[in-house]
Amino acid sequence: MSRYASSCEPSHWGGGGAGLSGGEGSDSLTRASMRPLLTDGLFVPEQYHFHPIMDSTNREAMTLAHGGAPQGTVIVADQQTNGRGRHGRTWASPPGVNLYFSMILRPAMPACHAPRLTLLAGLALVESVVAAGVEAARIKWPNDILVHGRKLAGILTEMASDGDRVRFVTVGVGVNVNGSAARLPPEVAARAITLEEITRKRWARELFLADFLRIFAKWYIRYLQEGFAPVRQGWLGHARMEGRRMRIQLPAGVVTGSALGLDEEGFLLVEQEDGVVSRVMAGEVEWLDRG
Ligand code: BTN
Repeated sequence: MSRYASSCEPSHWGGGGAGLSGGEGSDSLTRASMRPLLTDGLFVPEQYHFHPIMDSTNREAMTLAHGGAPQGTVIVADQQTNGRGRHGRTWASPPGVNLYFSMILRPAMPACHAPRLTLLAGLALVESVVAAGVEAARIKWPNDILVHGRKLAGILTEMASDGDRVRFVTVGVGVNVNGSAARLPPEVAARAITLEEITRKRWARELFLADFLRIFAKWYIRYLQEGFAPVRQGWLGHARMEGRRMRIQLPAGVVTGSALGLDEEGFLLVEQEDGVVSRVMAGEVEWLDRG
């Protein structure tokens, strides 16, 4: 017998295409390079900021957003000296090879719906990777992009609220694009992979970035107009997690069971051995089967 409430309250809180044309050739993330590629209407050249080196684009996005930067602001760095990952980890951010960027969003929505944007970003990211020819890309809940079980990309979402309303959300994305994952720090190298390793060609980062922003804008506008259901359906199609055995590390303990999918609110549903279904919004998933 399942039991879970259909509200914003989880039963377990955790911590915290078409335009991609091969991509070989030039590689420049400057505003001048991006200007002709920013055509979706949400992300515009005037609000696009490139930095050769920066501590963290998420830190900068939070600072700019607190200062009133508008929705659609994008901060991109060629290198990060203090890239932030989920669960307080660092995100290895060497220069010249990968993508590190953060977006500022100001959706009119309840704060408890903000995690849906993380799922939306994961959907846009996996679609960008599939558009790059990587059919094997999967979303691992909540928003890791894996290929052959190795991490290609990650997303870190942060939020500020006014009462129970979202003030702004920053969505930070890191993608391992070029070079070899073996050159990343040893603690992540064995579990990481790059787009170049998968496709056996170097990528122009600006083309991948432009494609992601276009796909993200499409989903974001659709979400604002139609609600979460299409995002949820798209996300599930790329996660293929139903029935898989998993262990989730939560601040309050460990949940082990079978993945049932996402509920209408975007919570992960896990059926434990005693039949209890947990609704989880954040945590660290480990697969217990081979998928
Ligand atoms: C994860 O742990 O999987 C999330 C990683 C998110 C990394 C990106 S890189 C750009 C942005 N700036 C940061 O400091 N972190 C995010």
